[in-house]
Amino acid sequence: ADPVTGCPVSANAAAFDPFGDVYQADPPEAVRWSRDGEPVFYSPSLGYWVVTRYDDVKAIFRDNITFSPSIALEKITPVSDEAIATLERYDYAMNRTLVNEDEPEHMPRRRVLMDPFTPDRLAHHEPMVRRLTREYVDRFVDAGKADLVDEMLWEVPLTVALHFLGVPEEDMATLRKYSIAHTVNTWGRPSPEEQLTVAENVGRFWQFAGTVVEKLRRDPSGDGWMPYSIRKQQEYPDIITDSYLHSMMMAGIVAAHETTANAAANAIKLLLENRTVWEELCADPGLIPNAAEECLRHSGSVAAWRRLVTADTTVGGVPVPAGSKLLIVNSSANRDERHFEDPDTVDVRRDNATEHLTFGYGSHQCMGKNLARMELQVFLEELTRRLPHLGLVPGQRFTYVPNTSFRGPEHLWVQWDPAANPERSDP
Ligand code: HEM
Repeated sequence: ADPVTGCPVSANAAAFDPFGDVYQADPPEAVRWSRDGEPVFYSPSLGYWVVTRYDDVKAIFRDNITFSPSIALEKITPVSDEAIATLERYDYAMNRTLVNEDEPEHMPRRRVLMDPFTPDRLAHHEPMVRRLTREYVDRFVDAGKADLVDEMLWEVPLTVALHFLGVPEEDMATLRKYSIAHTVNTWGRPSPEEQLTVAENVGRFWQFAGTVVEKLRRDPSGDGWMPYSIRKQQEYPDIITDSYLHSMMMAGIVAAHETTANAAANAIKLLLENRTVWEELCADPGLIPNAAEECLRHSGSVAAWRRLVTADTTVGGVPVPAGSKLLIVNSSANRDERHFEDPDTVDVRRDNATEHLTFGYGSHQCMGKNLARMELQVFLEELTRRLPHLGLVPGQRFTYVPNTSFRGPEHLWVQWDPAANPERSDP
């Protein structure tokens, strides 16, 4: 409550706008006031309770029964009638996958589908990730200037995602085309025109995802998580449903692509802004695994996530009724000084960096976290080795797609002197 007026919604809470410039520029900074003094508050403009401290955010992730993940992918801006009509024309029926599935359905499905994510099984993707990364760096290594997002960080995680999922080569180009605009549509405030354009795209993506699943079904012997899931469906038809497979064919690409691309762009930007840290990594690549983790903590690519309250409860001592929607700001939890010492400093030797909540926590924690970590590490290894003298192009203004959750700069311009490259192209 506001200490002066006694109004149950404080002035800060009333002014909270996760689509505005302040939150977009720096989500954890934008809610510092909340971490400091009002860690659980109701946002009337959003219609959500907002939670910003580490212990509260973690407790919510930990209890997926009281705090259901069912609204995780719901459109935060209500969909217009026209957009709904468009989606209906495409028989759009995106349903639960894993991230938004309740118990008791979720856990058995997660268990059956986990094997391809274990470190052993992921290891064989590493050479592919490294080869792709080197090829993209080769293209610009002699140029002296590049937009790392456009020229590498958007493309490599998308290609890796398509391979990991086991999409047939001939369908990759089409799926690539559809992997846009989901961020603003799910977590942003799209205009009615934008909603209509995105609905067309999503409808076509949905139909195409269906045809890819059908094709994989005819021969599910190949590599990749989707063929694996189809084989598991033969064993566990009630757990791996048709609806799940079709929905995951579409949602899996978004889950694996934009999160990782944004995380990489955030990491490289952060390290170049902290030049001495970048130079330490160049001198000692052994620091890279923990540095990647510290970047995920300090500037992760998932800024906030959502849960639905299923029974009257309290969060951080504040009563929250059943039916409430929660915006849990994990990027703010990651900067909570109650858990991380000197939380705004980038410390690549921090001993609890891995305790960040960027991958969520508990029974829904990101299944792809080790694939994402591997990609980040390979990007940092290749860039620190081949372009150690890289710097940010000065004076650039970073822009972000306005939304509550997915966060990374749309462009990241870097420059260097090609004559000083330690190696010119692939040795
Ligand atoms: C779930 C973040 C990369 C697949 C999640 C969740 C978050 C997240 C916040 C929800 C966790 C929760 O509710 O507790 C990220 C970030 C990534 C990343 C920041 C990159 C840096 C990937 C990749 C894949 C992937 C590469 C690969 C396919 C999944 C799946 C789930 C999930 C399948 C659902 C797990 C479940 O509900 O049981 N991720 N993710 N993610 N992620 Fe990721």
